[in-house]
Amino acid sequence: MFEQQPQTLREKVQKLANQSLEQSDPSAWFDILYAEAQGDAGQVPWAKLSPHPVLESWLNDRAITPEGRSALVTGCGLGDDAETLAARGFEVTAFDISPTAIAWCRQRFPDSPVNYCVGDFFNLDPAWRGQFDLVEDCRNIQALPLNVRSQVIEAIAALVAPGGTLLIITRDRDNDSEPEGPPWPLSDAELAEFSQWGLAEIQRHEFFDGDNTIKQLRVEYRRSH
Ligand SMILES: C[S@@+](CC[C@H](N)C(=O)[O-])C[C@H]1O[C@@H](n2cnc3c(N)ncnc32)[C@H](O)[C@@H]1O
Repeated sequence: MFEQQPQTLREKVQKLANQSLEQSDPSAWFDILYAEAQGDAGQVPWAKLSPHPVLESWLNDRAITPEGRSALVTGCGLGDDAETLAARGFEVTAFDISPTAIAWCRQRFPDSPVNYCVGDFFNLDPAWRGQFDLVEDCRNIQALPLNVRSQVIEAIAALVAPGGTLLIITRDRDNDSEPEGPPWPLSDAELAEFSQWGLAEIQRHEFFDGDNTIKQLRVEYRRSH
């Protein structure tokens, strides 16, 4: 999530995140960061203003027929992944806890068919349960601390329709000791929690980011009928 960010931005993120954690509100700092960026994506460490390459490669490698199929992009940030799914023909909903990020998406993509909305992993619309053929979560679970991880995993899993697909893009860590974050990479044990909620792992793709040293994963899960 924070690959190659300048030191000052890293310090700012750390300070804002620590303040949120002290208030036991781990998501509180995101809207502050987006608002203080004042439209400059260079002040948002994860914003690349392009879809994630491993989402694109996943889409390119499959004979997907998206027409009429629904997709949900969780923690959508500035909207690039949502836009690429919409361009492929999915009917896309995308949410983020930050009203500033959602307003920024609407401003960037004024003619977008994507339904952008404010939403919170910890308080999702119950009507969304089991509704989406494809759910994509890119670098969001790692942005939240370990003490809320199981809750977020359960909330994301619940969104996938019967027969639907979940794509998780995340940093990976090799052991179960507590990492220093943010970000807090996911362990195998945490990734395996999706199976508790009816999602079977179908494929795991490992890749590296940053200066080629940050291990990341794209994991594809499927909910059986
Ligand atoms: C590291 S960023 C990743 C953004 C985007 N997925 C990407 O890959 O560019 C984490 C995102 O999660 C959002 N977020 C944090 N807590 C959230 C929550 N409780 N519910 C929904 N979104 C949340 C943040 O506002 C932020 O946009």
